[in-house]
Amino acid sequence: MPESITITDNRTGQTLEIPIDNGGISATAWSKLLPGVWFYDPGFMFTASCESSISYLDGEAGILRYRGYPIEQLAERSTYLEVAYLLLFGELPTADQYDAWQHDVTHHTFIHENVRKRFLEGFHYDAHPMGMLVSAVAALSTFYPEAKDITDAASWNKQVLRLIAKMPTLAAAAHRFSVGMPFVYPDNSLDFAANFLSMMWKTAEPRFEADPVLARALDVLFILHADHEQNCSTTALRVVGSSHADPYSAVSAAAAALYGPRHGGANEAVIRMLVEVGSLENVPAFVESVKEGNGRLQGFGHRVYKSYDPRAKIIKETADRVFEVVGKNPLLDIALALEEIALSDEYFTSRRLYPNVDFYSGLIYQAMGFPLEMFPVLFAIPRTVGWLAHWQELLAQDVKISRPRQLYIGADQRDYVTIGQRG
Ligand code: ACO
Repeated sequence: MPESITITDNRTGQTLEIPIDNGGISATAWSKLLPGVWFYDPGFMFTASCESSISYLDGEAGILRYRGYPIEQLAERSTYLEVAYLLLFGELPTADQYDAWQHDVTHHTFIHENVRKRFLEGFHYDAHPMGMLVSAVAALSTFYPEAKDITDAASWNKQVLRLIAKMPTLAAAAHRFSVGMPFVYPDNSLDFAANFLSMMWKTAEPRFEADPVLARALDVLFILHADHEQNCSTTALRVVGSSHADPYSAVSAAAAALYGPRHGGANEAVIRMLVEVGSLENVPAFVESVKEGNGRLQGFGHRVYKSYDPRAKIIKETADRVFEVVGKNPLLDIALALEEIALSDEYFTSRRLYPNVDFYSGLIYQAMGFPLEMFPVLFAIPRTVGWLAHWQELLAQDVKISRPRQLYIGADQRDYVTIGQRG
């Protein structure tokens, strides 16, 4: 039985049948039936901006799946590179496909020397690494001008590979520069996460051997952050991609969206909040002040999840494994106390505010030695694959350029007055 809603246009008395397809109303169908009547939906609260088969999210039930696979299974049994393949190509790779994919990504990790010497090293000595990353990714488009040809599928694949492989190198280079340490070249004998840790932490030793527990924990965090349907940065990617900009420019725009504290900057904000709370006895007063409207409980709440974020559960378990190696982050007890109070407080339960992915991830990053400024960068590395999966999908769908309407609320027409006559 086809679903529809019937509405009456009180301006004309006309009754209209609006078809419902896959839970939504097509704007094209709507505009034909009611031309000139717009949906006013700032923040896209009730608007689906695309069709996608990449990740599935049920915020009520706390479900996240990549290409149909539950996030819990992927976090437990897969690797970031395997998940990257899954997101980009739709299926888990065979053993041969995985070997070839791993080889290809590994052999695109180097960056052009001028990206580092002329570009990254041109930043001010204390530049924020995320600002450096956003700019460096955009700059890559000038090194690969063929990326502008978005009609060439072979070129797509090459740019996708380059971006996934070079993000950790750019990220680590931005960090090393911002702390005055020399650049470390990729070690292609290491796997993805271990290689990133080597580029971050290697000093004078001939080969950096990351603790396997920490490398695996980082890989799990990369899996959890790889995609999350139409979040702010992915939407930014889709908007820019819809203009047929090259993928470096589109990924750079997405990374810029991720930089904000309401999105990828939230895990940094969580640590700053925990430091501000300072001790367990300050927790109740802090929660009360949030309830009175003084700021927000960072790492809590989500536009879509109205129950516990499934990624937060996995991260909490991962944190325990990391703390066994590096020692417990002293801020953990404050975080646990905040969570306990918030989860039993009517203010938070009635608004269905639960810990999100950022509540515990920052504690892990900090315990592993990453400076706060690197937190959004650590998010951008794996999310690049999600952005690129959406970029490929939107090109394959040949979507229209993103161009919403606005409801104009400004002045009516008025006549120009010369400057001396304005009062
Ligand atoms: N602490 C206290 N109150 C909150 C919080 C919070 N973290 N989040 C939402 N609320 C309250 C709001 O004040 C509002 O209350 P009201 O109805 O009395 O006015 C209600 O809950 C709804 O909040 P909105 O801002 O309308 O919800 P929205 O869906 O627009 O925002 C967001 C979602 C931005 C994530 C929000 O919950 C927030 O700011 N959280 C803290 C920042 C954070 O953790 N961001 C990371 C998100 S996950 C990610 O990007 C990877």
